[in-house]
Amino acid sequence: MTGKRILLIVGGGIAAYKSLDLVRRLRERGLNVRVVLTEAGAQFVTPLSLASLSGQEVHQELFSLTAEARMGHIELSRDADLVVIAPATADLLAKAAHGHANDLASTLLLATDKRVLAAPSMNLRMWLHPATQRNVATLRGDGMIFVGPGDGAMACGEFGPGRMSEPLEIVAAVEAALAGDTVIPLPMAQPPVLAGLRVIVTSGPTHEPIDPVRYIANRSSGKQGHAIAQAAANAGASVVLVSGPVSVPDPAGVQTVHVETARQMLEAVEAALPADIFIGAAAVADWRVGAALVEKLKKGASGPPTLGLVENPDILATVASHARRPRLVVGFAAETEKVIDHAQAKLARKKCDLIVANDVSPATGVMGGDANTVHLVSKGGVETWPTLPKAEVAQRLIAELAALMGEGGA
Ligand code: CTP
Repeated sequence: MTGKRILLIVGGGIAAYKSLDLVRRLRERGLNVRVVLTEAGAQFVTPLSLASLSGQEVHQELFSLTAEARMGHIELSRDADLVVIAPATADLLAKAAHGHANDLASTLLLATDKRVLAAPSMNLRMWLHPATQRNVATLRGDGMIFVGPGDGAMACGEFGPGRMSEPLEIVAAVEAALAGDTVIPLPMAQPPVLAGLRVIVTSGPTHEPIDPVRYIANRSSGKQGHAIAQAAANAGASVVLVSGPVSVPDPAGVQTVHVETARQMLEAVEAALPADIFIGAAAVADWRVGAALVEKLKKGASGPPTLGLVENPDILATVASHARRPRLVVGFAAETEKVIDHAQAKLARKKCDLIVANDVSPATGVMGGDANTVHLVSKGGVETWPTLPKAEVAQRLIAELAALMGEGGA
Protein backbone atom coordinates (compact mmCIF):
# COMPACT_ATOMS: atom_id res chain seq x y z
CA MET A 1 0.00 0.00 0.00
CA THR A 2 2.78 2.40 0.98
CA GLY A 3 3.88 4.61 -1.88
CA LYS A 4 0.68 4.11 -3.91
CA ARG A 5 -0.58 7.29 -5.50
CA ILE A 6 -4.04 8.73 -4.99
CA LEU A 7 -5.51 11.49 -7.11
CA LEU A 8 -8.12 13.13 -4.88
CA ILE A 9 -10.76 15.31 -6.49
CA VAL A 10 -12.39 17.61 -3.95
CA GLY A 11 -15.80 18.77 -5.14
CA GLY A 12 -17.92 21.64 -3.89
CA GLY A 13 -19.89 20.50 -0.88
CA ILE A 14 -19.93 21.29 2.80
CA ALA A 15 -18.33 17.87 3.38
CA ALA A 16 -15.17 19.19 1.73
CA TYR A 17 -13.92 20.01 5.24
CA LYS A 18 -13.75 16.25 5.90
CA SER A 19 -11.50 15.88 2.87
CA LEU A 20 -8.79 17.77 4.74
CA ASP A 21 -8.83 15.02 7.35
CA LEU A 22 -9.02 12.41 4.58
CA VAL A 23 -5.77 13.70 3.07
CA ARG A 24 -4.11 13.45 6.47
CA ARG A 25 -5.39 9.89 7.05
CA LEU A 26 -4.28 8.71 3.62
CA ARG A 27 -0.83 10.17 4.14
CA GLU A 28 -0.57 8.54 7.57
CA ARG A 29 -0.86 5.24 5.70
CA GLY A 30 2.09 6.11 3.49
CA LEU A 31 -0.02 7.01 0.45
CA ASN A 32 0.97 9.80 -1.88
CA VAL A 33 -1.95 12.21 -2.35
CA ARG A 34 -2.24 14.67 -5.21
CA VAL A 35 -5.26 16.98 -4.98
CA VAL A 36 -7.49 18.48 -7.64
CA LEU A 37 -9.81 21.15 -6.28
CA THR A 38 -12.89 22.13 -8.32
CA GLU A 39 -14.00 25.72 -8.58
CA ALA A 40 -16.96 24.95 -6.30
CA GLY A 41 -14.69 23.01 -3.92
CA ALA A 42 -12.55 26.12 -3.50
CA GLN A 43 -15.60 27.87 -2.02
CA PHE A 44 -15.42 25.46 0.92
CA VAL A 45 -11.72 24.73 1.49
CA THR A 46 -8.62 26.60 0.43
CA PRO A 47 -5.93 25.33 -1.90
CA LEU A 48 -3.41 26.35 0.74
CA SER A 49 -4.85 23.95 3.36
CA LEU A 50 -4.88 21.09 0.87
CA ALA A 51 -1.36 21.88 -0.36
CA SER A 52 -0.06 21.98 3.21
CA LEU A 53 -1.70 18.69 4.14
CA SER A 54 -0.82 16.84 0.94
CA GLY A 55 2.65 18.33 0.69
CA GLN A 56 2.08 18.98 -3.00
CA GLU A 57 0.83 21.64 -5.34
CA VAL A 58 -2.97 21.62 -5.72
CA HIS A 59 -4.33 21.50 -9.27
CA GLN A 60 -7.29 23.70 -10.08
CA GLU A 61 -7.43 24.68 -13.71
CA LEU A 62 -7.72 22.87 -16.97
CA PHE A 63 -6.13 25.63 -19.00
CA SER A 64 -3.26 26.57 -16.73
CA LEU A 65 -0.14 27.11 -18.77
CA THR A 66 2.17 26.85 -15.78
CA ALA A 67 0.62 23.67 -14.39
CA GLU A 68 0.32 22.16 -17.86
CA ALA A 69 4.01 22.79 -18.45
CA ARG A 70 4.94 20.89 -15.27
CA MET A 71 2.38 18.11 -15.59
CA GLY A 72 -0.21 17.89 -18.34
CA HIS A 73 -3.78 17.00 -17.43
CA ILE A 74 -3.61 13.67 -19.23
CA GLU A 75 -0.48 12.74 -17.32
CA LEU A 76 -2.13 13.88 -14.11
CA SER A 77 -5.05 11.52 -14.83
CA ARG A 78 -2.73 8.57 -15.39
CA ASP A 79 -0.08 9.20 -12.77
CA ALA A 80 -2.17 7.66 -10.00
CA ASP A 81 -3.09 4.20 -8.83
CA LEU A 82 -6.59 5.24 -7.85
CA VAL A 83 -8.77 8.29 -8.37
CA VAL A 84 -10.94 9.29 -5.39
CA ILE A 85 -13.76 11.85 -5.54
CA ALA A 86 -14.63 13.20 -2.09
CA PRO A 87 -17.00 14.90 -1.84
CA ALA A 88 -18.58 13.59 -5.03
CA THR A 89 -21.31 16.12 -5.70
CA ALA A 90 -24.43 15.50 -7.80
CA ASP A 91 -22.92 17.72 -10.48
CA LEU A 92 -19.58 15.87 -10.61
CA LEU A 93 -21.40 12.52 -10.87
CA ALA A 94 -23.69 13.85 -13.60
CA LYS A 95 -20.72 15.14 -15.57
CA ALA A 96 -18.86 11.86 -15.18
CA ALA A 97 -21.94 9.80 -16.15
CA HIS A 98 -22.39 11.83 -19.33
CA GLY A 99 -18.73 12.13 -20.25
CA HIS A 100 -18.41 15.91 -19.92
CA ALA A 101 -14.93 17.39 -20.02
CA ASN A 102 -15.35 21.09 -19.39
CA ASP A 103 -13.14 21.57 -16.35
CA LEU A 104 -10.10 19.90 -14.86
CA ALA A 105 -11.97 17.36 -12.66
CA SER A 106 -14.37 16.14 -15.36
CA THR A 107 -11.59 15.98 -17.95
CA LEU A 108 -9.45 13.87 -15.62
CA LEU A 109 -12.36 11.51 -14.95
CA LEU A 110 -12.84 11.00 -18.68
CA ALA A 111 -9.13 10.62 -19.43
CA THR A 112 -8.07 8.37 -16.59
CA ASP A 113 -7.21 4.71 -17.06
CA LYS A 114 -7.64 3.97 -13.34
CA ARG A 115 -10.56 2.96 -11.19
CA VAL A 116 -12.52 5.76 -9.60
CA LEU A 117 -13.87 5.60 -6.06
CA ALA A 118 -16.59 8.14 -5.29
CA ALA A 119 -17.83 9.28 -1.88
CA PRO A 120 -21.12 11.03 -2.68
CA SER A 121 -22.25 13.98 -0.62
CA MET A 122 -25.40 15.93 -1.21
CA ASN A 123 -28.83 16.82 0.10
CA LEU A 124 -31.04 13.74 0.45
CA ARG A 125 -33.50 14.85 -2.23
CA MET A 126 -30.64 15.41 -4.64
CA TRP A 127 -29.28 11.93 -3.83
CA LEU A 128 -32.68 10.25 -4.14
CA HIS A 129 -33.63 12.11 -7.32
CA PRO A 130 -34.07 9.66 -10.20
CA ALA A 131 -31.56 11.67 -12.25
CA THR A 132 -28.81 11.12 -9.67
CA GLN A 133 -29.78 7.48 -9.18
CA ARG A 134 -29.66 6.96 -12.96
CA ASN A 135 -26.22 8.56 -13.10
CA VAL A 136 -24.98 6.39 -10.22
CA ALA A 137 -26.30 3.25 -11.94
CA THR A 138 -24.55 4.26 -15.17
CA LEU A 139 -21.30 4.93 -13.35
CA ARG A 140 -21.47 1.63 -11.46
CA GLY A 141 -21.97 -0.11 -14.79
CA ASP A 142 -18.87 1.69 -16.06
CA GLY A 143 -16.92 0.32 -13.10
CA MET A 144 -16.98 3.25 -10.66
CA ILE A 145 -16.86 2.18 -7.01
CA PHE A 146 -18.96 3.93 -4.38
CA VAL A 147 -18.53 4.39 -0.66
CA GLY A 148 -21.60 5.74 1.11
CA PRO A 149 -23.43 8.01 1.33
CA GLY A 150 -24.53 7.44 4.89
CA ASP A 151 -27.76 8.45 6.63
CA GLY A 152 -27.84 11.22 9.14
CA ALA A 153 -28.43 14.85 9.98
CA MET A 154 -27.31 17.13 7.19
CA ALA A 155 -25.82 20.56 7.19
CA CYS A 156 -29.01 21.79 5.49
CA GLY A 157 -31.08 20.71 8.53
CA GLU A 158 -32.72 17.70 6.87
CA PHE A 159 -32.19 14.06 7.79
CA GLY A 160 -31.60 11.13 5.45
CA PRO A 161 -29.18 9.57 2.98
CA GLY A 162 -26.60 11.85 1.39
CA ARG A 163 -23.99 12.39 4.12
CA MET A 164 -20.46 11.77 2.92
CA SER A 165 -18.83 8.75 4.56
CA GLU A 166 -16.38 9.51 7.36
CA PRO A 167 -12.70 9.81 6.36
CA LEU A 168 -11.78 6.45 7.93
CA GLU A 169 -14.57 4.69 6.02
CA ILE A 170 -13.24 6.23 2.81
CA VAL A 171 -9.71 5.14 3.75
CA ALA A 172 -10.97 1.56 4.19
CA ALA A 173 -12.64 1.71 0.75
CA VAL A 174 -9.42 3.09 -0.75
CA GLU A 175 -7.43 0.22 0.78
CA ALA A 176 -9.94 -2.33 -0.52
CA ALA A 177 -9.81 -0.80 -4.01
CA LEU A 178 -6.02 -0.71 -4.02
CA ALA A 179 -5.93 -4.40 -3.07
CA GLY A 180 -7.42 -5.21 -6.49
CA ASP A 181 -6.41 -4.38 -10.03
CA THR A 182 -7.02 -0.65 -10.52
CA VAL A 183 -6.17 -0.37 -14.20
CA ILE A 184 -9.23 -0.19 -16.45
CA PRO A 185 -8.74 -1.82 -19.84
CA LEU A 186 -9.18 0.55 -22.77
CA PRO A 187 -12.82 0.11 -23.90
CA MET A 188 -11.77 0.61 -27.51
CA ALA A 189 -9.36 -2.26 -27.08
CA GLN A 190 -12.40 -4.45 -27.71
CA PRO A 191 -11.74 -5.29 -31.35
CA PRO A 192 -14.57 -6.37 -33.67
CA VAL A 193 -13.86 -10.02 -32.90
CA LEU A 194 -17.44 -11.12 -33.58
CA ALA A 195 -17.93 -9.13 -36.79
CA GLY A 196 -20.28 -10.91 -39.18
CA LEU A 197 -21.59 -13.31 -36.51
CA ARG A 198 -25.10 -13.60 -35.15
CA VAL A 199 -25.53 -14.00 -31.40
CA ILE A 200 -28.66 -14.74 -29.37
CA VAL A 201 -28.63 -13.93 -25.65
CA THR A 202 -31.33 -14.61 -23.04
CA SER A 203 -31.39 -12.46 -19.94
CA GLY A 204 -33.38 -11.65 -16.81
CA PRO A 205 -35.95 -13.72 -14.97
CA THR A 206 -39.18 -15.13 -16.34
CA HIS A 207 -42.54 -14.44 -14.75
CA GLU A 208 -44.92 -17.37 -14.61
CA PRO A 209 -48.51 -16.31 -14.00
CA ILE A 210 -50.61 -17.77 -11.20
CA ASP A 211 -53.61 -15.64 -12.06
CA PRO A 212 -53.98 -12.27 -13.83
CA VAL A 213 -52.30 -10.37 -10.98
CA ARG A 214 -49.85 -12.80 -9.38
CA TYR A 215 -46.79 -14.56 -10.72
CA ILE A 216 -43.79 -16.71 -9.76
CA ALA A 217 -40.45 -14.98 -10.30
CA ASN A 218 -36.83 -14.91 -9.12
CA ARG A 219 -34.23 -12.30 -8.18
CA SER A 220 -32.38 -12.07 -11.50
CA SER A 221 -31.83 -8.43 -12.53
CA GLY A 222 -30.70 -9.08 -16.12
CA LYS A 223 -27.54 -7.03 -15.55
CA GLN A 224 -25.13 -9.79 -16.54
CA GLY A 225 -27.10 -10.98 -19.57
CA HIS A 226 -27.65 -7.44 -20.83
CA ALA A 227 -23.94 -6.64 -20.37
CA ILE A 228 -23.10 -9.71 -22.47
CA ALA A 229 -25.48 -8.64 -25.23
CA GLN A 230 -23.89 -5.18 -25.15
CA ALA A 231 -20.36 -6.58 -25.25
CA ALA A 232 -21.26 -8.86 -28.18
CA ALA A 233 -22.71 -5.90 -30.09
CA ASN A 234 -19.62 -3.82 -29.27
CA ALA A 235 -17.55 -6.66 -30.69
CA GLY A 236 -19.36 -6.31 -34.01
CA ALA A 237 -21.94 -9.11 -33.72
CA SER A 238 -25.54 -8.79 -34.79
CA VAL A 239 -27.29 -9.49 -31.49
CA VAL A 240 -30.82 -10.54 -30.55
CA LEU A 241 -31.48 -10.22 -26.83
CA VAL A 242 -34.51 -12.07 -25.50
CA SER A 243 -35.22 -10.49 -22.16
CA GLY A 244 -37.59 -11.36 -19.36
CA PRO A 245 -39.09 -8.53 -17.27
CA VAL A 246 -36.18 -6.35 -16.05
CA SER A 247 -35.62 -2.73 -15.11
CA VAL A 248 -32.26 -2.34 -16.85
CA PRO A 249 -32.43 -0.48 -20.18
CA ASP A 250 -32.21 -2.21 -23.57
CA PRO A 251 -28.55 -2.30 -24.65
CA ALA A 252 -27.60 0.08 -27.45
CA GLY A 253 -27.35 -1.44 -30.92
CA VAL A 254 -29.05 -4.70 -29.86
CA GLN A 255 -32.40 -6.01 -31.11
CA THR A 256 -34.24 -6.64 -27.85
CA VAL A 257 -37.33 -8.85 -27.68
CA HIS A 258 -39.31 -8.56 -24.44
CA VAL A 259 -41.05 -11.64 -23.10
CA GLU A 260 -42.58 -12.70 -19.84
CA THR A 261 -42.73 -16.47 -19.54
CA ALA A 262 -40.31 -19.33 -20.23
CA ARG A 263 -42.47 -20.57 -23.08
CA GLN A 264 -42.50 -17.11 -24.71
CA MET A 265 -38.73 -16.94 -24.25
CA LEU A 266 -38.25 -20.27 -26.01
CA GLU A 267 -40.52 -19.18 -28.85
CA ALA A 268 -38.59 -15.92 -29.32
CA VAL A 269 -35.25 -17.75 -29.24
CA GLU A 270 -36.38 -20.30 -31.83
CA ALA A 271 -37.70 -17.48 -34.02
CA ALA A 272 -34.28 -15.81 -33.83
CA LEU A 273 -32.40 -18.92 -35.00
CA PRO A 274 -30.17 -19.60 -36.87
CA ALA A 275 -27.25 -18.06 -35.01
CA ASP A 276 -23.54 -18.68 -34.55
CA ILE A 277 -23.57 -18.35 -30.76
CA PHE A 278 -26.29 -18.82 -28.15
CA ILE A 279 -25.74 -17.54 -24.60
CA GLY A 280 -28.40 -18.52 -22.07
CA ALA A 281 -27.91 -16.05 -19.23
CA ALA A 282 -31.58 -15.88 -18.23
CA ALA A 283 -32.75 -17.28 -14.92
CA VAL A 284 -35.61 -19.20 -16.49
CA ALA A 285 -38.26 -20.39 -14.06
CA ASP A 286 -38.09 -24.17 -13.89
CA TRP A 287 -41.81 -24.52 -13.25
CA ARG A 288 -45.04 -22.79 -14.12
CA VAL A 289 -48.54 -23.16 -12.75
CA GLY A 290 -50.14 -25.89 -14.84
CA ALA A 291 -53.47 -24.15 -15.20
CA ALA A 292 -53.00 -20.41 -14.59
CA LEU A 293 -56.34 -18.86 -13.70
CA VAL A 294 -58.15 -16.44 -15.94
CA GLU A 295 -59.78 -14.69 -12.97
CA LYS A 296 -58.06 -13.50 -9.79
CA LEU A 297 -57.78 -16.24 -7.20
CA LYS A 298 -59.94 -15.42 -4.16
CA LYS A 299 -59.51 -16.41 -0.55
CA GLY A 300 -62.08 -18.98 0.38
CA ALA A 301 -63.38 -21.35 2.99
CA SER A 302 -61.42 -24.19 1.42
CA GLY A 303 -58.13 -22.70 2.71
CA PRO A 304 -54.96 -21.83 0.77
CA PRO A 305 -54.92 -23.04 -2.84
CA THR A 306 -52.54 -25.69 -4.11
CA LEU A 307 -50.52 -24.58 -7.11
CA GLY A 308 -50.10 -27.53 -9.43
CA LEU A 309 -46.68 -26.91 -11.01
CA VAL A 310 -45.52 -28.33 -14.30
CA GLU A 311 -42.00 -28.18 -15.69
CA ASN A 312 -41.08 -25.48 -18.18
CA PRO A 313 -39.20 -26.30 -21.38
CA ASP A 314 -35.43 -26.07 -20.96
CA ILE A 315 -34.41 -23.40 -23.47
CA LEU A 316 -30.68 -24.07 -23.23
CA ALA A 317 -31.05 -27.82 -23.68
CA THR A 318 -33.52 -27.30 -26.55
CA VAL A 319 -31.11 -24.99 -28.40
CA ALA A 320 -28.15 -27.30 -27.76
CA SER A 321 -29.97 -30.23 -29.36
CA HIS A 322 -31.70 -28.19 -32.05
CA ALA A 323 -31.56 -29.06 -35.75
CA ARG A 324 -30.20 -25.54 -36.25
CA ARG A 325 -27.81 -25.69 -33.28
CA PRO A 326 -25.49 -22.68 -33.10
CA ARG A 327 -21.80 -23.54 -33.22
CA LEU A 328 -21.31 -22.40 -29.66
CA VAL A 329 -23.93 -22.92 -26.98
CA VAL A 330 -23.14 -21.31 -23.64
CA GLY A 331 -25.13 -21.75 -20.45
CA PHE A 332 -25.00 -20.26 -17.00
CA ALA A 333 -25.20 -22.16 -13.75
CA ALA A 334 -26.54 -20.25 -10.80
CA GLU A 335 -25.69 -22.31 -7.75
CA THR A 336 -25.68 -21.86 -4.01
CA GLU A 337 -23.43 -24.85 -3.23
CA LYS A 338 -21.01 -27.27 -4.98
CA VAL A 339 -20.78 -24.70 -7.79
CA ILE A 340 -18.26 -26.54 -10.01
CA ASP A 341 -19.78 -30.01 -9.55
CA HIS A 342 -23.25 -28.83 -10.48
CA ALA A 343 -21.89 -26.83 -13.42
CA GLN A 344 -20.05 -29.86 -14.78
CA ALA A 345 -23.21 -31.93 -14.49
CA LYS A 346 -25.20 -29.21 -16.33
CA LEU A 347 -22.59 -29.02 -19.09
CA ALA A 348 -23.05 -32.70 -19.84
CA ARG A 349 -26.81 -32.87 -19.23
CA LYS A 350 -27.65 -29.87 -21.39
CA LYS A 351 -25.05 -30.70 -24.07
CA CYS A 352 -23.56 -27.21 -24.18
CA ASP A 353 -20.01 -26.16 -24.94
CA LEU A 354 -19.39 -23.93 -21.97
CA ILE A 355 -21.00 -23.19 -18.64
CA VAL A 356 -20.41 -19.90 -16.82
CA ALA A 357 -20.89 -20.90 -13.21
CA ASN A 358 -21.43 -18.53 -10.34
CA ASP A 359 -22.29 -18.67 -6.69
CA VAL A 360 -25.55 -16.84 -6.11
CA SER A 361 -25.88 -17.41 -2.34
CA PRO A 362 -27.41 -14.27 -0.80
CA ALA A 363 -24.10 -13.45 0.93
CA THR A 364 -22.32 -12.99 -2.44
CA GLY A 365 -24.66 -10.18 -3.56
CA VAL A 366 -24.40 -11.44 -7.15
CA MET A 367 -28.16 -11.46 -7.77
CA GLY A 368 -28.97 -7.83 -8.55
CA GLY A 369 -25.42 -6.70 -7.73
CA ASP A 370 -22.86 -5.17 -10.07
CA ALA A 371 -20.01 -7.63 -9.67
CA ASN A 372 -19.66 -11.32 -10.36
CA THR A 373 -17.17 -14.09 -9.63
CA VAL A 374 -17.40 -16.75 -12.30
CA HIS A 375 -15.86 -20.07 -13.24
CA LEU A 376 -15.72 -21.10 -16.88
CA VAL A 377 -16.48 -24.79 -17.04
CA SER A 378 -15.91 -26.75 -20.25
CA LYS A 379 -14.83 -30.25 -21.18
CA GLY A 380 -11.28 -28.87 -21.17
CA GLY A 381 -11.40 -27.92 -17.49
CA VAL A 382 -12.27 -25.06 -15.15
CA GLU A 383 -10.99 -21.50 -15.28
CA THR A 384 -11.77 -19.18 -12.36
CA TRP A 385 -11.82 -15.43 -12.90
CA PRO A 386 -11.35 -12.80 -10.18
CA THR A 387 -14.36 -10.82 -8.97
CA LEU A 388 -15.07 -8.28 -11.71
CA PRO A 389 -17.75 -5.76 -12.63
CA LYS A 390 -20.42 -7.52 -14.72
CA ALA A 391 -19.46 -5.40 -17.75
CA GLU A 392 -15.92 -6.73 -17.54
CA VAL A 393 -17.08 -10.34 -17.12
CA ALA A 394 -19.10 -9.77 -20.29
CA GLN A 395 -16.16 -8.39 -22.26
CA ARG A 396 -13.88 -11.22 -21.21
CA LEU A 397 -16.51 -13.81 -22.04
CA ILE A 398 -16.95 -12.36 -25.52
CA ALA A 399 -13.17 -12.43 -26.07
CA GLU A 400 -13.14 -16.06 -24.93
CA LEU A 401 -16.00 -17.01 -27.26
CA ALA A 402 -14.34 -15.25 -30.18
CA ALA A 403 -11.20 -17.27 -29.51
CA LEU A 404 -13.24 -20.49 -29.40
CA MET A 405 -14.97 -19.60 -32.69
CA GLY A 406 -11.54 -19.00 -34.17
CA GLU A 407 -10.42 -22.44 -33.03
CA GLY A 408 -13.48 -23.95 -34.66
CA GLY A 409 -15.51 -24.79 -31.58
CA ALA A 410 -15.14 -25.36 -27.87
N1 CTP B 1 -32.16 -22.71 -18.51
C1 CTP B 1 -33.01 -22.67 -19.61
N2 CTP B 1 -34.30 -23.07 -19.49
C2 CTP B 1 -34.78 -23.52 -18.32
C3 CTP B 1 -33.93 -23.58 -17.18
C4 CTP B 1 -32.63 -23.16 -17.31
O1 CTP B 1 -32.57 -22.25 -20.68
N3 CTP B 1 -36.05 -23.91 -18.24
C5 CTP B 1 -30.77 -22.33 -18.68
C6 CTP B 1 -30.38 -21.04 -17.98
O2 CTP B 1 -30.55 -19.92 -18.83
C7 CTP B 1 -28.91 -21.30 -17.68
C8 CTP B 1 -28.85 -22.79 -17.46
O3 CTP B 1 -30.00 -23.32 -18.11
O4 CTP B 1 -28.11 -20.99 -18.78
C9 CTP B 1 -28.82 -23.25 -16.06
O5 CTP B 1 -29.84 -22.67 -15.32
P1 CTP B 1 -30.01 -23.05 -13.79
O6 CTP B 1 -31.24 -22.38 -13.28
O7 CTP B 1 -28.73 -22.85 -13.07
O8 CTP B 1 -30.20 -24.62 -13.92
P2 CTP B 1 -31.45 -25.55 -13.94
O9 CTP B 1 -31.55 -26.20 -15.26
O10 CTP B 1 -32.63 -24.81 -13.46
O11 CTP B 1 -30.99 -26.66 -12.90
P3 CTP B 1 -31.19 -26.73 -11.31
O12 CTP B 1 -32.55 -26.17 -11.03
O13 CTP B 1 -31.07 -28.17 -11.03
O14 CTP B 1 -30.07 -25.92 -10.71
